[in-house]
Amino acid sequence: MPLCFRKMESTDLEEVYSIESEVFPDPWLREFFVSEMEHDAYVLVKSELIAGFLCAWQVLDECTITNVAVKPSYQRQGLGEVIFAELFKLMLQRDVHYYYLEVRASNQAALRLYIKLGFSQIGLRKSYYSNPVEDAIVMALDTSLNVEQHADAAEISGADERL
Ligand SMILES: CC(C)(COP(=O)(O)OP(=O)(O)OC[C@H]1O[C@@H](n2cnc3c(N)ncnc32)[C@H](O)[C@@H]1OP(=O)(O)O)[C@@H](O)C(=O)NCCC(=O)NCCS
Repeated sequence: MPLCFRKMESTDLEEVYSIESEVFPDPWLREFFVSEMEHDAYVLVKSELIAGFLCAWQVLDECTITNVAVKPSYQRQGLGEVIFAELFKLMLQRDVHYYYLEVRASNQAALRLYIKLGFSQIGLRKSYYSNPVEDAIVMALDTSLNVEQHADAAEISGADERL
């Protein structure tokens, strides 16, 4: 079945919010996604179902990822890497090379994904998260160091399907 990475639409909100509630102990309010759609909010659709989403804000040549998740039943299939590879391709067209994000210190799955993509830690925000209280690791990536590698990230992951 083909994958499709496209802009998030208001008709996606129920599915997106259901994934958000499934994966995070402190889920965003639905209204947050409505305002994210005014920025760079995308969904990855697989077999007509939303398998994951990503929200980001682009300012000049920088992109801050504000939220990203893959539905639990679709995790560990390379889709997280596909989502980032598609984001990198889109942002490359806008000459964006600098990426920033925050992640819970205990979130090993996300940390490993980001390290695999080339992100590195640039800071620590003490007790940044609530429910439960936890530090945030601040990470950054400069794709201009190796543009082709990042645009091809999904290839590296071994994801079995492409857009
Ligand atoms: C983080 C997340 C998006 C990863 O999505 P995914 O589709 O499962 O990731 P992929 O299958 O593309 O995995 C890519 C790499 O990430 C790492 N990874 C992903 N899940 C992992 C896990 N459970 N344990 C360890 N490493 C993991 C691995 O390095 C993996 O590469 P490998 O398969 O060669 O080992 C997903 O686990 C998720 O939605 N988690 C809940 C929401 C969340 O934490 N979002 C991030 C907030 S900052």
